[in-house]
Amino acid sequence: MADEFCWPSSPVPGRTTTTGTAPTIATPLPSIDQYDTVLLASGIWNVRAPMIMTTFTEGHDFTGKTVHPVTTHAMSGLGTTERDYTRSCPGATIGEGLAVRGEEVRDAGPAIESWLRRTGLLQDRPSATG
Ligand SMILES: Cc1cc2nc3c(=O)[nH]c(=O)nc-3n(C[C@H](O)[C@H](O)[C@H](O)COP(=O)(O)O)c2cc1C
Repeated sequence: MADEFCWPSSPVPGRTTTTGTAPTIATPLPSIDQYDTVLLASGIWNVRAPMIMTTFTEGHDFTGKTVHPVTTHAMSGLGTTERDYTRSCPGATIGEGLAVRGEEVRDAGPAIESWLRRTGLLQDRPSATG
């Protein structure tokens, strides 16, 4: 199969959770209506987000929302998440993503903060004196 699991070997042989079959979500969110911006954060499996992320995105209406892909990875960065979320979140704007190497997560604070500021997700509060 062309898009069969290929990273280094499946921890759960026979389960197609990286490609092909999207698993169900045990406790689905009722709605994302109240959010204008959604961070879709996951590890990277087989150079894309695990299929359960597709279950989530296809189960909600992202029209008019801004979506930021956020990944941990070993070497694939954002993988194909920008393209995949463009497809599975029709009507959404795909904003700048953030990719952090899994092994470097503990030291990634400054890079994460700078990404949060660059994307406008983190802003300094105006001072009390204005
Ligand atoms: C099943 C599986 C597939 C993976 N495929 C990739 C991949 O294609 N590219 C990559 O850079 N990392 C890959 N990784 C590494 C994970 O992205 C990395 O371990 C993870 O983001 C770190 O988060 P964790 O500590 O929750 O595992 C894979 C890991 C697993 C378990």
